[in-house]
Amino acid sequence: MPDASSGFRVEVLGDHDRSAFSCGVEPLDRYLKQQAGQDARRNVAVPFVLVAADQRIAGYYTLSATALKGDDLPPELVKKLRLPRYPELPATMLGRLAVDSGFRGQRLGEFLLLHALRRAWIGSQQVASLGVIVDAKDESARQFYLHYHFLSFPENPRRLFLPMKTVAALFASDTEGLAKP
Ligand SMILES: CC(C)(COP(=O)(O)OP(=O)(O)OC[C@H]1O[C@@H](n2cnc3c(N)ncnc32)[C@H](O)[C@@H]1OP(=O)(O)O)[C@@H](O)C(=O)NCCC(=O)NCCS
Repeated sequence: MPDASSGFRVEVLGDHDRSAFSCGVEPLDRYLKQQAGQDARRNVAVPFVLVAADQRIAGYYTLSATALKGDDLPPELVKKLRLPRYPELPATMLGRLAVDSGFRGQRLGEFLLLHALRRAWIGSQQVASLGVIVDAKDESARQFYLHYHFLSFPENPRRLFLPMKTVAALFASDTEGLAKP
């Protein structure tokens, strides 16, 4: 797991060299190279990059605000979270997450996921969000999120959800996060 001493750092996408990034899923590579900057400028997504000590991009993820249709949520979750029956409810979209093939198996995927969840949780203290949504690109990606206890939507198993209450519990002792968005 990277820490300050390992030389990895997470930064908002700027003028980083993205040309060499390759995660084995072409649309995710193309997104980082061709679309991420535009999405950032248009306030559609905030891309964060994981930069290695030698300046290579080891991974990235994006976060956006989104709206969930109340009817799409698993009914037992609506009950458990005691959600109001509004037509739409607020959530945070983890739009994309990928680790470069050369950096796999070093727990960087986990590190990026936890970083994204913590960002989402901090944001939710000022702009409410019920939880984090992902649309898994394929079965392998879906298995990755299930490994971290995301829940499947009944009508759309590729869409997964982690309640903000669960995310908050992960960072319960993180008082710094409360004060410093
Ligand atoms: C999925 C991905 C982000 C994982 O990154 P990684 O750095 O190789 O994974 P990590 O080393 O952090 O793995 C942490 C844990 O997740 C597990 N894991 C990793 N990929 C997994 C997968 N596809 N399915 C199930 N579990 C997976 C690991 O076995 C490890 O498990 P452990 O806690 O039991 O030891 C990476 O393989 C990737 O970028 N894939 C292509 C793009 C993609 O599918 N993105 C996700 C959806 S858009």
